[in-house]
Amino acid sequence: MYRIIKKTVLNPTVVRMDIEAPLVAKKAQAGQFIILRTDENGERIPLTVADTDPGQGTVTIIFQKAGATTDRLAEMEEGDSLCDFAGPLGRPTETEGLKKAAIVGGGVGCAIAYPVAKKLYEQGCEVHAVVGFRNRDLVILEDDFRAVSHKMKLMTDDGSYGEKGLVTDALRALIESGEKYDEVIVIGPLMMMKFVCALTKEYGIRTTVSMNPIMIDGTGMCGGCRLTVGGKTKFACVDGPDFDGHQVDFDEAMKRGGMYREFERHAREANCNLLTKKEAE
Ligand SMILES: Cc1cc2nc3c(=O)[nH]c(=O)nc-3n(C[C@H](O)[C@H](O)[C@H](O)COP(=O)(O)OP(=O)(O)OC[C@H]3O[C@@H](n4cnc5c(N)ncnc54)[C@H](O)[C@@H]3O)c2cc1C
Ligand code: FES
Repeated sequence: MYRIIKKTVLNPTVVRMDIEAPLVAKKAQAGQFIILRTDENGERIPLTVADTDPGQGTVTIIFQKAGATTDRLAEMEEGDSLCDFAGPLGRPTETEGLKKAAIVGGGVGCAIAYPVAKKLYEQGCEVHAVVGFRNRDLVILEDDFRAVSHKMKLMTDDGSYGEKGLVTDALRALIESGEKYDEVIVIGPLMMMKFVCALTKEYGIRTTVSMNPIMIDGTGMCGGCRLTVGGKTKFACVDGPDFDGHQVDFDEAMKRGGMYREFERHAREANCNLLTKKEAE
């Protein structure tokens, strides 16, 4: 069993938890993920390792309440235990040799982008962070990013905090002001990653994206996380989750991502009904 040591609500839909998982804490690197189940009958869901503390034996996860399982996880409290916490899975983000990089995060994608920014900063790379949110209430990890970046642009769609605009506006402005990046690493909604890749392609800047398709086993066996990259089939769980953004077929990924939407909606409604019933008792 994997005990929840600390729980922090970051915004109305995003929660951070430190989980007691010493073996994962010892091995996990930036870019890798775990698969957890809240209880024996629970669904398996992948979440990125946002941070580790090998000394304390804890792993930090940051997740958005997106459906039945993440809603249930957000209801759990410090002292409760998760039934499974398997990992680390996937390949670590390749950061070797980078001297100057822009890390672009969108919404909860910032939880995945943060450990990469931290790793690059710690290895002496000049890090420019560009983070975007719909509005002020949804901003997460601002201080964490500031602590591991040499330059930071915080964007909101509605201008309620930071600068008004999209991450692509901020990145374009940085590039046009003469900043030269060895690589851009971008993590967020598929649509955002697609547009950042279109922009960096214009300027010929190598770009890595972190893909989050539906995953089931996380070991390359089920084919659930299949993607097309450079015309070839890849499995995000074992070949990724990082890929060359200029080679990813985003339109196909978006189509596959919506495949279970109706089923997910039913599961969430059933979960909400269960919670309401429990509350009424
Ligand atoms: C490698 C990887 C790392 C991830 N890291 C994070 C993270 O750090 N923080 C975070 O908030 N989210 C992360 N996600 C997404 C997270 O796994 C989903 O939000 C979660 O599975 C939703 O489950 P649910 O039952 O609450 O919602 P559901 O209603 O089942 O689904 C809501 C949406 O989540 C996605 N999803 C559902 N099931 C899965 C699944 N088994 N695998 C992948 N995506 C799924 C789909 O896009 C779906 O439309 C990651 C996904 C992957 C593949
Ligand atoms: S999750 Fe099954 S092959 Fe990747």
